[in-house]
This record gives sequence, C-alpha cells and structure tokens, in this order.
Amino acid sequence: MEHVYIENISKHLGQEVTIKGWLYNIRSSGKLKFLLVRDGTQTIQCVLFRGDVAPEVFDAADKLTHESSLIVHGQVREDKRSPIGYEISVCKIEIIQVADEYPIQPKEHGIHFLMDRRHLWLRSSRQHAIMRIRSNLIDAARRFFNQRDFVLLDAPIFTPAACEGTTTLFETDYFDNKAYLTQSGQLYMEAGAMAFGKVYCFGPTFRAEKSKTRRHLTEFWMIEPEVAYMDLEGDMDLAEDFVEYLVEEVVKGCRGELELLERDVAWLERVKKPFPRITYTEAVEILKKAGVDFQWGKDFGGDDETILSKQFDRPVLIHRYPAQSKAFYMKNDPENQDLALCVDMLGPEGYGEIIGGGQREDNLEVLLDKIDKHDLPREAFEWYLDLRRYGAVPHAGFGLGIERTLAWICGLHHVRETIPFPRLMDRLRP
Ligand code: 4AD
Ligand code: MG
Repeated sequence: MEHVYIENISKHLGQEVTIKGWLYNIRSSGKLKFLLVRDGTQTIQCVLFRGDVAPEVFDAADKLTHESSLIVHGQVREDKRSPIGYEISVCKIEIIQVADEYPIQPKEHGIHFLMDRRHLWLRSSRQHAIMRIRSNLIDAARRFFNQRDFVLLDAPIFTPAACEGTTTLFETDYFDNKAYLTQSGQLYMEAGAMAFGKVYCFGPTFRAEKSKTRRHLTEFWMIEPEVAYMDLEGDMDLAEDFVEYLVEEVVKGCRGELELLERDVAWLERVKKPFPRITYTEAVEILKKAGVDFQWGKDFGGDDETILSKQFDRPVLIHRYPAQSKAFYMKNDPENQDLALCVDMLGPEGYGEIIGGGQREDNLEVLLDKIDKHDLPREAFEWYLDLRRYGAVPHAGFGLGIERTLAWICGLHHVRETIPFPRLMDRLRP
C-alpha cells in the first residue's frame, strides 16, 4: 500500500493507503475504536472495526497512548462530519513505539513549562500553524527577491566588527583573536551590491540585548536586500512592495492556519500600497498629542512604537530620524545634516518595528569621520572603506526581521512563539 500524507488524502478516495504518524487520541465504542492520527501534515480519524481486523490488532490498539508512533493501513472513505472530509477504514495497524506518558496535556500549561518542552510543544496545533506560516513567509520572502533577479549572497556569521553598535555584540574566541557573531549582514551586502547591483542575504543574526521584552530575541532571522544606485525613496518603495507581497502570499497560502490562530484576516487584507509615510518629526508630534513626554532626538522605545503603530490601519514608514541616534553607516540628509536618510517600518495594531534600513553614507571622508565619532576601530572597517574608494555610488537597503513580522501576521503577543527554538536573555534550552 502506498504511503501517503494526510494533506493529500483526497487524491486517494477509495484506495488502500498507508499513513505513518502518531496517535493524537483514541476512544472506543463497542465494536469500534476511533484513532485520531496525525502525520505532521494533518490529522485524520482512523476507524477500527472489530469485524475487519484480527482480534490481536483490535486489542493491541488499547495499549496506544497519546503520541505513540504507529503505521496505519486502510481504505480512504469520504466522511462529511470530518473536518478534512475523509476518514480511514483500518485493516491493519503496526505499533512502532508506545509513548511514555506525554507531559503536554490538552489543558492550560504555563508558558515556562511549555517553553522548557519546546521540542514537544512544536507538535501542538497552534505551534504547528505558526511554524507553517513561518515556512511560507520565508519562502515568499526569498521568492520576492528571486523573482526580481536579486542575487542571494550569504553573509558571514563570524565577523571582526560591529554593524549595529558595540553594546550588543556576542563575542567569541577565534583562535588567537576575538570574533563577534553577526548583528546584520548589511556591510557585506554593500560589497555585494557593488559587485552584483542588487543582492540579498537571509540568515540568523545575533544581538546581546539585555532586554526582556516581547519583541527581543538574542538570535533572530533577518532578510536584507541591498541595491546600488538606489536612494531612500527607492528603498521605501521596495520595502512597501515587499511587505505587501509577503502578507498577500501568506494570506493566500495559510488561510487555515490563520483561522486556527483566530487571526482577524481583515487586518491583513488591508495591507495594500501605498503605506503612509511620515517623518520622525511628524511621529514625535503624534506622540506628544497622545500625551507622551517625548524629547526630539531620542530613538523610539517599544511603548512609543506601539502608540505610533496604532494610529494607522496598515504598516507605516517613518523616515529621517535624528542622525545622532542612528548607526554610523547612515547617510545624512543633504537638506538637513541633523537627519539621517533612514527608514523604519512599523507593523500596525501596535506591533512596532519590523523593518530598519536606509541610504548608506557613500563619501569616504564623511564615513571615516563617523567611524571615529562612534569610537569604532578603523582597522576592522578598512575593507568596508574600500567600497568608498573604488567606485562608490549611492546605495540603500533594509533588514526585515522574520520573527517580528511573523508575530504581527499571526497576531501573537510575544516573539518567542515565532521561532522553533527561541533564544532569549534567560533561555538557551532546549
Ligand atoms: O533596525 P535593525 O537593527 O537594522 C539593521 O540591522 C540594518 N543593518 C539592516 C539593514 O539595513 N540591512 O534591525 C532590522 C530588523 C528590525 O526592524 C527588527 O525587525 C529585527 O531586525 N530585529 C529584531 N528582531 C528580534 N529580536 C531582536 N532583538 C531584533 N533586533 C532587530
Ligand atoms: Mg531598527
């Protein structure tokens, strides 16, 4: 009998098939046993009738506990009452392993209990839905850039220098030297843009952020495009196209999962261009009107972002932050040297920043000056400075954090459920 996945079961109506999976639930009713079996793609009810199988097989089923592994052979039948429309009429069962008492029960468990058992929790329907949406989101993100002929250029994980400030670096021994886990692939993508015109990287990034907030992971995944001869306006256009596409694709591909998460899809369906674009200074005005005592010049905190992103029914682009609060590589606005040509995109509904990016400083002298002002070691950036010595051009890019984007799309309060094995300030296990 052919092994089939439950998600494809409709193609096998009437056929004898094999399902390989795990027991979710079993109940008996006289001469019948109903086994709910999941195989990672879906769950299906398998019906065991005493008259159809050997007595040993019928009785053996009683040994099966929650999460026991088993192989079921049987015929696919239509069943109007089933959520998937089909069930299996069992002719044979092979028990692979009878599971010990499963620690996760269908009741409320505390978040720490579940996080400690993340390796098992991933089997639960909610987590399952989130991870499937993650998989779809990442696939769509790659597709967006591939379809636009960007070259995928992987950035290194071990780096000699800081991209996003020295206070959040994870340091590690590197033979007789020190290395840092990358905070962003950006600087390498700038080299890539000069070599290929338009590139992107997608990989894990690391920040030793001593923040226990619902938005911070110490290890998160970022997708970072970088384009030569693109300015801030072009960067905002690209970010807008990208996010519109991502949301559209996820809504198309993951309706069932979003439903399971009880996500109000109407919010996602509103994510259509054009997104509002406001300056930092305008954003500060909004905060002040909302009663926040906010000093022009500061960076927005999580609470400020929440207030700002609740003002709009779709993502908002905030551009031209004060240069003083931003990274060394950002280009100053020629119209106002106090401002950086940068942009953040905030997700709506209070989700806060999902994208950070902007136009890069392309003048060697100015960049040298910024590296000194930020107290960064020039030697470590010599290679980067070469990009300004040999054919410097205006260029821009951004980074989108997968987990924050996913938290918003799924409507989750905390980013910890958006990554298979979250790394937080106080969590390195499992
Ligand atoms: O705004 P950030 O720091 O920008 C950069 O790293 C740029 N070098 C990217 C670029 O221009 N190529 O980070 C970009 C995004 C944020 O908007 C957020 O979505 C995510 O990365 N991010 C985090 N996600 C989870 N946990 C953290 N601690 C994060 N820090 C940033
Ligand atoms: Mg940022």
